[in-house]
Formats: sequence, structure tokens, C-alpha cells
Amino acid sequence: MSFSFSKEAVEELKNRIDIVDVIGRTVQLKRAGANYKGLCPFHNEKTPSFIVSPQKQIFTCFGGCGASGDVVSFVEKYYNLDFNEAVQKLADEYGIEIKKKEYKDDREKYYEINREAARFFYRNMTETVNPGYTYMKNRGIEDRTIKKFGLGYAPDSWDALYNYFKEKKTDEKILVELGLLSQKGDRYYDKFRNRVIFPIINTAGKVIGFGGRALDNQSMPKYLNSPENRIFQKKNNLYGLNSTRQDIGKEGMAIIVEGYMDAISLYQSDVRNVAASLGTALTENQAKLISRYTKNVVLSYDSDEAGRKAALRGIEVLKEENCKVKVLHVTDGKDPDEYVRNNGRAAFLQLIDKAMPYTDYKLEAAKRGLDVNSEEGKLDYMKRISPLLSQLSPVEADIYIRKISRDVGISEGAIKMEISGNNISAGESRRYRPQHENGSDDSESISPLEAAIIKCLLTDPALSEEFLEYTGAVENPLAVKVIDIAFEFYGMTGDFNLADICDRLEPSESEALEQAIDKVIITGNEEGVFRQCIHRWKLNSLEKQEKEIIDRLSLADEENNRETVKELTIKLMEIQEEMKMHGGKM
Ligand code: GTP
Ligand code: MN
Repeated sequence: MSFSFSKEAVEELKNRIDIVDVIGRTVQLKRAGANYKGLCPFHNEKTPSFIVSPQKQIFTCFGGCGASGDVVSFVEKYYNLDFNEAVQKLADEYGIEIKKKEYKDDREKYYEINREAARFFYRNMTETVNPGYTYMKNRGIEDRTIKKFGLGYAPDSWDALYNYFKEKKTDEKILVELGLLSQKGDRYYDKFRNRVIFPIINTAGKVIGFGGRALDNQSMPKYLNSPENRIFQKKNNLYGLNSTRQDIGKEGMAIIVEGYMDAISLYQSDVRNVAASLGTALTENQAKLISRYTKNVVLSYDSDEAGRKAALRGIEVLKEENCKVKVLHVTDGKDPDEYVRNNGRAAFLQLIDKAMPYTDYKLEAAKRGLDVNSEEGKLDYMKRISPLLSQLSPVEADIYIRKISRDVGISEGAIKMEISGNNISAGESRRYRPQHENGSDDSESISPLEAAIIKCLLTDPALSEEFLEYTGAVENPLAVKVIDIAFEFYGMTGDFNLADICDRLEPSESEALEQAIDKVIITGNEEGVFRQCIHRWKLNSLEKQEKEIIDRLSLADEENNRETVKELTIKLMEIQEEMKMHGGKM
């Protein structure tokens, strides 16, 4: 659905509808004091523990299924609808007119500003005398390549770009968010100064960010990248893919390199099926992205330690996407850019032909630091590679066992035995692996926030009703158990205390619980503290959701999936609005 309702409209709707009336249509409710009681429609029960509160306009199941919420969430849950559909249904049934919120995708504005900036940098590069152009010429980059990749130059000035946008009356806030300007107090200045600019363009053709290289090798950082923002997420993009995906498709193979210069330099040398992962080891989403165009990937990373590590990591990520991976490290120069400049296209293509399948690469990598001619070295080598070999298919294993046998001079039989031994010990070692590497058991113990919530509830059990909407705030298994027990008591008797709860816990659990809540000091006003806890949690979880949506948005953008972009944008707006309500940022 590509519309939504405004918060205020939904609030008004809720004010005009009585939850008891809505639920009463499907659940038989009986008055019980200030509340109504019935059989929970969300799980099977014989004694009613489903409470509807007309004062609070919420429902709650105290019978263990944990269902709770307001009138809209009841309709959502009962009729299996999403939020907007539930609101629409209620509005229709009660004949209430409800205003729809206009859908507005202001991401387009961000892209447009980036495109404008890219044009500005490009014109500086191509229409003025500038050191960026000289720098690229010295690195062998031709005019046609500058044009193809839209390379630009950011002048050596604090306000060139600023003034350019000022004339256009562009919102400075957005320019700061995009990382084009920096802000100090109420002054703005250009972020990219005296740098060659590589616009980063996604496969939908939108300029999502920039990389700027310093013109010397001393300035720090050597590369300045746009900060992550709502339209730019480095880990979801491959540099150059927008220009090279057809070539990748045609060749049936992609070469992944580390840097901007590697990508454009190979491209200029007519090795066009290339894209750059931009310094980071390949991420899961980058692997997904590339595997849309081909399953054959050659990782061509720098020949240094970092490049080797990145290659090993990249292999794993690509294998998850069922890619056939090969690895090559250039033999002359430190990276593909230097290699192809010194040796030319044909030599690089030969390297690709000789690129190692990932198993060979890993077998080779496992030799590092070992003398496989010595007895000890052979033993260590076998230890290192047997987990790898035990993952192979029987046919592959057979081929590699023969290879290794010849290579390091161990009998095939011995290698096979080592592998089957590894199978058992792998299982064992997994079982004995400690759960927390650094010995801390943070995730095992009740968090301060959870402890504070429990303490508030113990001091004022009536807060339980309010808490029902927020049970998500408690995640630790012991805390969840404590709350469940407390709710059960509350449902039956309207009250509970620490002793009630501890009665139902194991002695070790009681001790952990008491320890946790002893650390919480509340002086009066537990209701206020309780609300603060809920706010803090709500804000945390909204921030988490916001991050996730921004992440999904950039993927949807990559796929040019308008419907999803729309839906996500609406969700994002809603979350940000809610964050505002909870006193969060913006
Ligand atoms: P050139 O020296 O221009 O040829 O760059 P390079 O690609 O050889 O550099 P390097 O191998 O050091 O880095 C590879 C990639 O990592 C670059 O293309 C950048 O994407 C990234 N990178 C390198 N240095 C920095 C840096 O200082 N900051 C950030 N954010 N990224 C960097
Ligand atoms: Mn380089």
C-alpha cells in the first residue's frame, strides 16, 4: 500500500472508537471491576484471562500468549491485516472519514543535489586549468575515461561548492547530510577540497556519493568518502558497476578490485568487466549485487597482507551466493592499476586465465609461515587444511587429496584419515566452544534497563497494565520469565511481589534477579522512572528500525524497485515521526 495515515488522524480515530465495542463484536466480554474479561481469541484457553481496559483503551492477555495492544493492533492481529489496512477497516466500519497522508519521496531531491555537485566537479575538471586534471594525466588517465566515469575536481577552496549551491538556494542542511559541506557553528565550508572526485553511481544511475583522492601521497586521508547517509551506504554498492554490468554480463565474469583507480584503469585498458569494492572486504550485499550479473567472480586484490585477508574473506561471502570464485594477486606492482599500466591488457588477461580456484588459493594460503618440507610443517599444514578439505564434495576432495599428496609428499591414505578425524573433532570442538569469547556474559545477564523496569513493576504492580504494550523492551530470558510470572499473578490477583516470583524460579535465577534489581536505586517516583525506561527503550528500538529501513532502502534503490522504495519511505517517515514524539533526534 503506498499511502499512510497521519499520526493525528489515527489518534482521532482511536478517540472516537471504543475498544470494548470493537472487541466485543468477536469476543464475549464480561464486566470485571473496571475492566472487561473474556476468552483470549489468540490462544486456546478455558478460563478467561483476556482483559480489555476501557479506561486505557487497551487489551491484554494475561494467560501467557502475551497478546496486547490498542484497538488498531487488535484489528491487525485478529483479521491479519497490516496497520494501514486495519485503520481503514475501522474507519469504514464506523463511518469515520480519515485523512490520508501525501506520499512524498524526498530522496529524489538528495540524488538531484548529488548530481548537481557531480556536474560542478566535472566542469572544474574538464573546463578549467586545474591540478586534478594534471594529476589524472600523470596517472595515465585519458579524457574519454574522465568522461566515461564523470571524474571531477574539487577546487582548492573553502567555499567554491558552497557558493555554487548558495546561488541555487539549496538547503545547507541537506548538503551537510550528504557530506558535501561541513558545518561549524553557523558557518559552512566545502568538505572536498583540492581532490580528484570519483562520483559513485548506483546501477539505477543515481549519484549516491563521492570519493575524493588527495593529489599527493601525504595528505590525509588519501581518499575521503561521502559519509553514510540515507542515500549512500558503501557496503551496498560496487563502484563502476553502473558502467560495467553489461560487460560483466557479456563476459560471464566479473573482476572485483579494491580501488577506484584499479577499476577505471582496467576499464581504460579494455578490461571492462570490473567493479571495485572500495577498500572494504566484500560485503554480503555486494556479493548479492554482483551475483545478479554473473556467478563467476575473480577477486583481484592488492598483493599485500590486507589484500590477502580481504580475498579469503571475499571467497566465503561469494560462496554464500553460490559464486564460482577465483583469486589473483598481481605479480608486478602493488595493485591491478599498476600492473595493467606496466604490462598491458594481454598480460593481465593471462593473469586472469591463471587465477587460482578458491580451494587452491586457500590451500596455498595455508602454507604461509610453514616449511612444508619439514615433518612439523607437514603436520601443521594438514591441521590447517583438513577443515577445508572436509567441506568439499567427494569428487573434489578426491582431486585435491591427490594434488596435495603430490605437492607436499604425504600419502593419500594419511590425508583421508586426517580429514575424517577432523570431522569428529570439528563437531566436538563446536560443542565445547565457550559462548562468550572474552569471558564476559553480558547477553546472559539482565540489563540495567530491564532491571529498572522489573524494579518499578515490583514497587508498583499496577504499572503492569501500562507495561503490556511494551513487553518487547525485555529480552533477556530470565527477565522475560520474571515478567511472565508477574503477569500471571497480576492476572489472577491484581498483585505480585518479589517473594511470589522467586518462589517460581530456580535458586540460581532468584539470586541473579535479586542481584540485578539490587543495583537499581529508585527514590520514589517509580512511575516517572518507568516511563523514562520505556522511552529509552522505545527510542533505541526505533533507531534500530530506522537503520534497518535505511539499509533496505538503499538496496531497493539499487534494484530500482519503486514500490518497495515507496513503502519503505513511508515507514521511515513514520518511524522518524514517532522518534520525534519520543523526544528523539530530528
Ligand atoms: P591509489 O593510491 O590512488 O592508486 O589508490 P589505491 O586504490 O591504490 O589505494 P589503496 O590500495 O590504498 O586503497 C584501495 C581503496 O581503499 C581506495 O580506492 C579507497 O576506496 C579505499 N581507501 C584507501 N585509502 C583510504 C582512506 O584514507 N580513507 C578511506 N575512507 N578509504 C580509503
Ligand atoms: Mn593504486
